[in-house]
Amino acid sequence: MIEFDNVSKQYSRDAYALRDIFLSIPDGELVFLAGPSGAGKSTLLKMIAGIEKPSHGRVIVNGQDISKLKSGSLPYLRRKLGLILQDQKLLNDRSVLSNVMLPLIVTGAASSEAEARARVALEKVGLIDKASALPLSLSGGEQQRVAIARAIVNRPKIILADEPTAFLDRDNANKVLSALKAFQSAGVTCLISSHDEQFLDQANRVIYLSHGQVTDTWNAAVAA
Ligand SMILES: Nc1ncnc2c1ncn2[C@@H]1O[C@H](COP(=O)(O)OP(=O)(O)O)[C@@H](O)[C@H]1O
Ligand SMILES: [Mg+2]
Repeated sequence: MIEFDNVSKQYSRDAYALRDIFLSIPDGELVFLAGPSGAGKSTLLKMIAGIEKPSHGRVIVNGQDISKLKSGSLPYLRRKLGLILQDQKLLNDRSVLSNVMLPLIVTGAASSEAEARARVALEKVGLIDKASALPLSLSGGEQQRVAIARAIVNRPKIILADEPTAFLDRDNANKVLSALKAFQSAGVTCLISSHDEQFLDQANRVIYLSHGQVTDTWNAAVAA
């Protein structure tokens, strides 16, 4: 469960990136975060990972108030999240397999175990045949699926993806979304930001942000 309890975020005194946000996202849902550039989507995702802290209010993930976590506990929290954020590029001088193994290696996994799990992750996103390729030899959509494999190799219960379909054509965007939806079917909560409206009908819920505020929400159960 992810909860925002009256959360506001100001990067500077007179400008709100997020304002008075109340949200409750149950486990296992596929939720889209929609809204134009500058609406606050990235800020909201970063707050769930503790990368940005609220100026006001509480962000609670699995019962834990993120802003109360000591900075030493943050890496532990992030390991339980699958993060596909825009500033986390693949390492271009390493193979696809090595990129996907990395989150396990840095937490001390044996390399044989890391490789086995990375191969499973690559299979899940349909890229096992690219394991030894370098990232730059892949298409944008394939690179994004490698980033998904890297994000899920720790078997997270929550995936946060910030505009994973940006810059992709419709075909590749669909493949990326299918990969994310497959994890949701396996019980993982997926929160995906997008300024692209064409995929929103695939979600359980859409949360529309504008100028840092929730302007509308759409629930599949209600709409159906
Ligand atoms: N690190 C930062 N410092 C100052 N302002 C920021 C920072 N990050 C985002 N903002 C501002 O906060 C608002 C929301 O940004 P962001 O969360 O990136 O929106 P989105 O992801 O929807 O485009 C924007 O006005 C943006 O300029
Ligand atoms: Mg953004």
